[in-house]
Amino acid sequence: MHTPDPCATGAACDLALTRRNLLLASAASAAATGAGAAEAAPPPAIRPAPDPMPLHRLTLTVNGQRHTVEIDTRTTLLDLLREQLHLNGSKKGCDHGQCGACTVIADGRRINACLSLAVLHEGGSVTTIEGLGHPQQLHPMQAAFVKHDGYQCGYCTPGQICSAVAVIDEVRAGIPSHVSADLNAKPLLSAQELRERMSGNICRCGAYSNIVEAISEVAGGAA
Ligand code: FES
Ligand code: FES
Repeated sequence: MHTPDPCATGAACDLALTRRNLLLASAASAAATGAGAAEAAPPPAIRPAPDPMPLHRLTLTVNGQRHTVEIDTRTTLLDLLREQLHLNGSKKGCDHGQCGACTVIADGRRINACLSLAVLHEGGSVTTIEGLGHPQQLHPMQAAFVKHDGYQCGYCTPGQICSAVAVIDEVRAGIPSHVSADLNAKPLLSAQELRERMSGNICRCGAYSNIVEAISEVAGGAA
């Protein structure tokens, strides 16, 4: 079978040549442009470092001692206590408000220090486990935890003790819990109340029965 010559007609051959020339011209033009751009490109600019985050001056009282610190406003109370004030008794467990290991007492109320920005405590007063007592003079709750073996690894213990101290104050103040049957009656620290009020403090070692004994003993004389 005869294959027609593409150049059999002058028009087809001219078209092929025209396309080839066009491609060559385009390639040459692109190369020239690239080379020119490379030569003309300015050296990469050195970007200045971003301004550091402005620090905030914060004054608060921790364990009876007044502190003035310069902090990033995003600092949590827990990080301030542990990293800047070197009070490592308050523990970082979940860092998400779920375990209670970081519990401290702020202006009389127990809070999860990992969920609270330090700047919210301007002029405030915070008590950590270090401020409750010390080895030579234990707080009654600390002594009860020792007496009743209310811990194993001890990681949750500072938070448990701070929480327990505040629970007794809550009951004394007549603050009901979610399981209080009568919101107008003075709550009693029943086993059910105690379990509910301490439910935000997790003990991975499972020392719960001894923790309940320790708190009940202190509450018996204090609530
Ligand atoms: Fe704060 Fe777990 S570390 S609740
Ligand atoms: Fe270990 Fe509670 S004593 S987590």
